[in-house]
Amino acid sequence: MYIAHTIAELRDHLAAYKRPAFVPTMGNLHDGHLALIKQARPLGDVTVASIFVNRLQFLPHEDFDTYPRTWDSDCEKLRAAGCDVLFAPDEKALYPEPQTCKVHPDPALADILEGHFRPGFFVGVCTVVMKLFTCVQPRVAVFGKKDYQQLMMIRHMVRQFALPIDIVGSETFRADDGLALSSRNGYLSETERAEAVQLSKALKAMAEAVHSGERDLAAIEARAMQTLTQRGWQPDYLVLRRRADLQAASPGEPLVALAAARLGGTRLIDNLEIDTPAS
Ligand code: PAF
Repeated sequence: MYIAHTIAELRDHLAAYKRPAFVPTMGNLHDGHLALIKQARPLGDVTVASIFVNRLQFLPHEDFDTYPRTWDSDCEKLRAAGCDVLFAPDEKALYPEPQTCKVHPDPALADILEGHFRPGFFVGVCTVVMKLFTCVQPRVAVFGKKDYQQLMMIRHMVRQFALPIDIVGSETFRADDGLALSSRNGYLSETERAEAVQLSKALKAMAEAVHSGERDLAAIEARAMQTLTQRGWQPDYLVLRRRADLQAASPGEPLVALAAARLGGTRLIDNLEIDTPAS
């Protein structure tokens, strides 16, 4: 695996390829990331991953400084997964001067849910992804569906700027008990890890209520909030939204249940697509 630490090294190396397939990450890789690499491999003539913990997408009180950085094991895992090129710039290499030119995604999507609870988060995500795209110049890029709103935002950005990149969404990789894999799961204590599965269970309960024909979405959401709160969680949101744009849904539309909740000091997110019975 070739490792490029600067944009110039990366561009020199990739000049020989026509169709890079790209997986951007912030490192601390788990099986979910490796599934993205495996999905990317047949889609291009070279598979490129990036590791960059992007300060721009963290709020001042968030975990930028403590975000797990696991360089040696990340490199080993990427090699074993068949990644060809790793782009791992430090902050000076990616942001040699303050990144004052930023991508401001559509507020209708960027300022709700994650964007509401983490103001500026999607400006940071879209800005770094745009910059990584201009460095790697991929023809295809793979993102996990666990970050559902992020994936929608990237698709929208790519469409609006007519970037010649196919965006592929990859199914959420889950532990045996159903917990969505996330780098932040490593923050959970043993007891919290056992409890964490309740987040995906809450989403499943919401899906079951919809499937059983219940039409009062607000009542389903309120029940899910109450269940998690009673178990000691601090939910930010547990909602049923229209899959097309994450806005309020009308009966019969394809839905997605989305959740973000804090368990102890750890904030977890998850989601579940729901096919609704015809209205
Ligand atoms: O999903 C992530 O890990 C990050 O938001 C991304 C896309 C790598 C941008 O920093």
